[in-house]
Amino acid sequence: IKTLQFLLILFLSAQSFAQDEEIKRSDFPNHFFFGTSTSSYQIEGGFVEDGRGKSNWDVFSHIPGKIKDNDTGDVADDHYHRFTEDIELMSSMAMNAYRFSISWTRILPKGRFGDVNRRGIIFYNKIIDNLLLKGIEPFVTIHHHDLPDELDKRYGSWMSSQMQEDFVYFAKICFEEFGDRVKHWITINEPNLVTLMAYIRGVYPPAHCSPPFGNCSAGNSDIEPLIVMHNMLLAHAKAVFLYRTHFQKKQGGSIGITAVGHMYEPLTNHEFDIEAVDRALIFNFAWVYDPIVYGDYPKEMREVFGSQLPSFSKTEKSIIKGSLDYICVNHYTTLYTKDCLHSPCSNGGDRPIKGFLDTTGYRDSVSIGDPTGVDRFFVVPRGLEKIINYIRQRYPNNPIVVTENGYSMPPSDGKTLEDIINDTKRVNFHKNYLASLVRAMRNGADVRGYFVWSLMDNFEWIDGFTTRFGLWYVDFQTLERHPKLSAHWFASFLGGNLHQL
Ligand code: NOJ
Repeated sequence: IKTLQFLLILFLSAQSFAQDEEIKRSDFPNHFFFGTSTSSYQIEGGFVEDGRGKSNWDVFSHIPGKIKDNDTGDVADDHYHRFTEDIELMSSMAMNAYRFSISWTRILPKGRFGDVNRRGIIFYNKIIDNLLLKGIEPFVTIHHHDLPDELDKRYGSWMSSQMQEDFVYFAKICFEEFGDRVKHWITINEPNLVTLMAYIRGVYPPAHCSPPFGNCSAGNSDIEPLIVMHNMLLAHAKAVFLYRTHFQKKQGGSIGITAVGHMYEPLTNHEFDIEAVDRALIFNFAWVYDPIVYGDYPKEMREVFGSQLPSFSKTEKSIIKGSLDYICVNHYTTLYTKDCLHSPCSNGGDRPIKGFLDTTGYRDSVSIGDPTGVDRFFVVPRGLEKIINYIRQRYPNNPIVVTENGYSMPPSDGKTLEDIINDTKRVNFHKNYLASLVRAMRNGADVRGYFVWSLMDNFEWIDGFTTRFGLWYVDFQTLERHPKLSAHWFASFLGGNLHQL
């Protein structure tokens, strides 16, 4: 019996070790970037201040019923007025990098159909200068969901190829004004999520739907997501071309794009479900990165969509191919895949265009991992190692940056203030995902940085302020920030002085 007891204790402690892995700063290279990520509309507020123009998200969030509790980003975290305090928060955790985005309408209130707003430029200059003073490296996303309403009104923004020029016009101003100090650029955030949410599911502006999601007022064409992605990819490629020809040598920075990269596992052991894993990765991730690395869409997509999938001209191919200095990935979850090529899709998945593919987080009602505050996100730390390995194999010899990874408390646990502040589940989430990242790096992956989504609770798009991803708690009445346990954990992991504040 004693031996059995001993074995049981051994087993249980091995289990708990497997659940919460220990991780040290020294497991990563010295020059590794540790930072937090945010985006302009989600944190800034100040939506009519100092000449800022109206964005698509200003308009959309003001339509009753579009956002939970009819929240808007009008004030958000009021970062517009509190950015120096917010940079202190990063500094107290000893973060050495910060990823944020530029509000297009703060710089160009009417896109290229109006003047440059110098007060917008002054605002971002202050942020960049303050970051550098604190030894925090700025990683700047040029476009993160919010774009001038003017461009939506004129020609439906990304539905039009004219948007490529609009984006390049905006990017050029960013390179000119900030490129002397910004050395890490990300052109566009998650083009694959934008097509899914704004042009398939129809829940982000401009709320177009594609079959089988037919409940929106506009859209209803399964070609729209393909066109929108094509325009975003070419906008990216042209901005990179401009950067490389006019700025990169002089300024000495690097540039890329970031895509959401879920990992997938088969719902059953059936070979069709196993094959569906590959298709899910191709249709969700390689859709973005194959053109950027190799100059064309994956052949599997061409087989399904035929001539509906736009083509790149010879010149376009030469511009898009190799238009990156690093691969950026936003990773949150792993999902099951279920074949929909040989059998009908039952529950409508992420990308059920032409009944091609179905993804889910459940198998026979058993979840693939612990739930989170986002209904399609589950905690599956091994997924980070797997997606990094996938990137390495499909796109060898490119440095990788994890530009987002984060956890929001499931609604059942996230109710009381005490729960929210004592976020042990978020601490364990980051420990286990970082341990998974270390495994990928020990295996040879060239990963340069890891960014937590997010610095502080903020406007989580259609979930408004109900879904909290922050390391810092924000009281949306008083706008005060308080460190959660996870902020303390990062501070002690990185050697910050948060405990002394
Ligand atoms: C990815 C997006 O880039 C970000 O804006 C969003 O808040 C997080 N995912 C969490 O959903």
